[in-house]
Amino acid sequence: MIQPANRTQSIQEYYFSVKLKEIAQMNMGEVKVLNLGIGDPDMSPSEETWNSLREACFHPKSHGYQSYQGIPALREGFSKWYKTYFNVDLNPANEILPLMGSKEGIMITSLAYLNEGDEVLIPDPSYPTYKSVTNLLGGKIVSYPLSESKNWQPDFVSLEKRDLSKVKIMWINYPHMPTGARATKELLENIVAFGKKHKILIVNDNPYSFILNNEPLSILSIDGAKDCCLELNSLSKSHNMPGWRVGMIGGNPKMLEPILKVKTNMDSGMFYPVQQAAIKALSQDQTWYDSINKVYQKRRELVFQLLDLIKCKPSADQSGMFVWASIPDKYEDCYKLSDEILQKTKVFITPGGIFGDQGKKYIRISLCSSESVFKEAIERIKRN
Ligand SMILES: Cc1ncc(COP(=O)(O)O)c(C=O)c1O
Repeated sequence: MIQPANRTQSIQEYYFSVKLKEIAQMNMGEVKVLNLGIGDPDMSPSEETWNSLREACFHPKSHGYQSYQGIPALREGFSKWYKTYFNVDLNPANEILPLMGSKEGIMITSLAYLNEGDEVLIPDPSYPTYKSVTNLLGGKIVSYPLSESKNWQPDFVSLEKRDLSKVKIMWINYPHMPTGARATKELLENIVAFGKKHKILIVNDNPYSFILNNEPLSILSIDGAKDCCLELNSLSKSHNMPGWRVGMIGGNPKMLEPILKVKTNMDSGMFYPVQQAAIKALSQDQTWYDSINKVYQKRRELVFQLLDLIKCKPSADQSGMFVWASIPDKYEDCYKLSDEILQKTKVFITPGGIFGDQGKKYIRISLCSSESVFKEAIERIKRN
């Protein structure tokens, strides 16, 4: 048997990959599992986006390799989008690098900046990829706990008490997944000041700004942010295009340079029609976001009803495509509750502990199912 690299021992199969196999097994029975777990947008991209994709397929060069930096019109599209919705100026020539989603961005940014043994500040709870990428690259995870009592914001007093001399990157993610917490301008100002003071690269992973959130906020809108911050963004959630793999990283050209260097050695530009379709998606006006949010809003009301039935309390004022809620005291942890509901009612709800220890007393419900699915889930729970 040929031995895989040691680094593969530092990570485990993704929780959902394992859980989906269990759900597939349960689905062999008569009653199918209602999966309220995964944040995979079920609504379609806009018709104009599809049309643009179709038309671009017939371009004589559509099959060819594309520029590592994306076609200029895509960078211009991102630049206008940032100006319109975040009031941030990003020069399309050198302050925007299109990517195949934020997930690629997490890996290539880490490859570009982390040496073995460098420390990385990672929020707990958070998107598991920050940790797994850090582990894969031999970085050292330094978790910083977020708690409901502090509105899921970093506690700078305790962060300042640590030895921060080896910290290279700090991941932040506002609007925050899984808690749905938003950043305030003041919070982002504090984070920028913290990054500058300790010479830490701050990366804001920002894919949820357009979902159930009236005020998209970019860290790059803060004075001086371009000195130490980068921002990832993505069309996966904002434009219902998760499988199309379109995202970007923005910031100071000098800081993007090493990332581009890594990218040019790892992959090539995206399929031309996907880039054209992304340009169209990015040019849509506010009515697009409003129409999507109207649907999520209705779904969220049903999720609140469901949570009430199982005595879970959602934290107030959430953004993004999930609802995060604390579990009743009688349950030792979220896994017990999630498993009990799955076994009794065949409704799957994500246990918050998969996002870190601070999530153990919480669950997360995705809004990516139709109203009829939520109604059916409510009925099943009422019957049990
Ligand atoms: C916080 C966060 N960042 C990044 C991603 C990945 O997004 P993309 O599809 O752009 O790679 C997700 C997806 O679930 C996410 O929740």
